[in-house]
Amino acid sequence: MKVHINSKKPHTFSTELLTIAVYEKEINKETLNIDKMLHGTITKIIKTKKFKGEFCESYIITTHGKLMAESILLLGLGKRKEFDNDKLRKIAAISVKTAKSKNSKTMGFFISDLDENKAQAITEGALLGNYQFTKFKTIDKEKIKKVDSFTIVSSKSGAEKGVETGKIISESVNYTRNLVNMPPSRLTPKEFLKEAKKIAHEGKLKIKIIDKNEMKKLGMNCFLAVSRGSSEEPYLVILEYNGGKKKVALAGKGITFDSGGLNLKPTGYMIDMKSDMGGAATVLGTMKTIAKLKPKLHVIGAMALSENMPGQSAIKPGDVVKSYNGKTVEINNTDAEGRLVLSDTLSYTERQYNPDAIIDLATLTGACVVALGNIAAGLMGSDEKLIKKIKSASKITSEKVWQLPLWVEYKELIKGTIGDIVNASRSRSMGPGTITAAAFLNNFVEKTPWAHLDIAGTAFIPEEREYEGKDATGWGVRLLTQLILDW
Ligand code: BES
Ligand code: ZN
Ligand code: ZN
Repeated sequence: MKVHINSKKPHTFSTELLTIAVYEKEINKETLNIDKMLHGTITKIIKTKKFKGEFCESYIITTHGKLMAESILLLGLGKRKEFDNDKLRKIAAISVKTAKSKNSKTMGFFISDLDENKAQAITEGALLGNYQFTKFKTIDKEKIKKVDSFTIVSSKSGAEKGVETGKIISESVNYTRNLVNMPPSRLTPKEFLKEAKKIAHEGKLKIKIIDKNEMKKLGMNCFLAVSRGSSEEPYLVILEYNGGKKKVALAGKGITFDSGGLNLKPTGYMIDMKSDMGGAATVLGTMKTIAKLKPKLHVIGAMALSENMPGQSAIKPGDVVKSYNGKTVEINNTDAEGRLVLSDTLSYTERQYNPDAIIDLATLTGACVVALGNIAAGLMGSDEKLIKKIKSASKITSEKVWQLPLWVEYKELIKGTIGDIVNASRSRSMGPGTITAAAFLNNFVEKTPWAHLDIAGTAFIPEEREYEGKDATGWGVRLLTQLILDW
């Protein structure tokens, strides 16, 4: 679907479906112009309270040739004083879905007070709401409904820039969603690496690849421990964009399939584990946007790629391994593998690149889904300033985060018996699993302000939401991009 901007007046714009976004209890002059051409239909609908402009309320009017648009879709924005840009993302997504259901190929969108940020939000809502993962469909492919063109009808200046930014960001979010939705035997660590190479090439980014042999030389035994049970080789891939002095490092968990290892997951818990590379996919999607938006910042994107399988060489519960930074880790549970690949990734990134901040993203714990559902990511870290920055970016993109504490008492819970620390406490069913996972990671960042986002609940969702379809959401690409742009 192409998104355009057109400076025609809405009543002269020719399309199959034209959305008019209206605030509650308000009617603007452009809508009145359309109303006149429709012989007062809109004012009558409002007067008889068939449409009040409440948020997400809709009303379709067929224009029977009285207007250039074949149909008008009135969509409520709610009260002006309660407005935020996320409402526009939702309304734009609903518009596209309505057009699809009516088999319309072209559509327009009008809002009276457009500006750059609103144009960006509309573009994002439209493109994210239009996303479908159809790669593996062969039957009735032609029946899949598609909107070809979405035009924002407005002559407001600055809106073009918002549309451009919105397009770049949404394209990356949808790219991340494609990676996460991909079947696990299709997107192995090696295939993910190919994608990273492609993004590096397209965006002229530096790439560093640490393979199994290099990991052995470096002593990344926590990372290697996870991949031992798999026939697929692990990779630590690091992309680099250098646009300024300040240096921010992103790190993502990239388990392309998490069977649990010898602590094999029960059936219902294994089915969605192709999505366990969501953190790494978000990092790659963010690097893709960064390469295009070119912020004045140095950005490092590290992706920890591995499978977690119970093959004959698999790591066993009770094993002890020495991490890249020298700490010994007792592996009590092979299903707590994300923190293992991330531990070596974090300390390597800190030592090699000496960044000003490190942020990691990981589908790390089922406990996070219990605590926050699919609505918000868990946020923890060692630096309140960095956490504040992440919260501010999250307000703008409406990707919700909720901070959990990392008090010393929690750090006690992962002390080792024969090694320094454990990857999972033995009484885990009772424990605060999301926090102890973060406390574990905290051992591998020595001096750098660090924040951790547990995206287990938000990366892959069971039910369709307005612009976040079912399954992969691409959660975090918009948030990280915003964070970097506002740094
Ligand atoms: N990948 C899972 C976490 C997960 C669960 C992500 C549900 C998305 C949805 C992770 O590797 C895991 O298995 N964690 C264990 C940790 C435990 C063994 C300490 C968990 O949460 O049960
Ligand atoms: Zn696991
Ligand atoms: Zn996992």
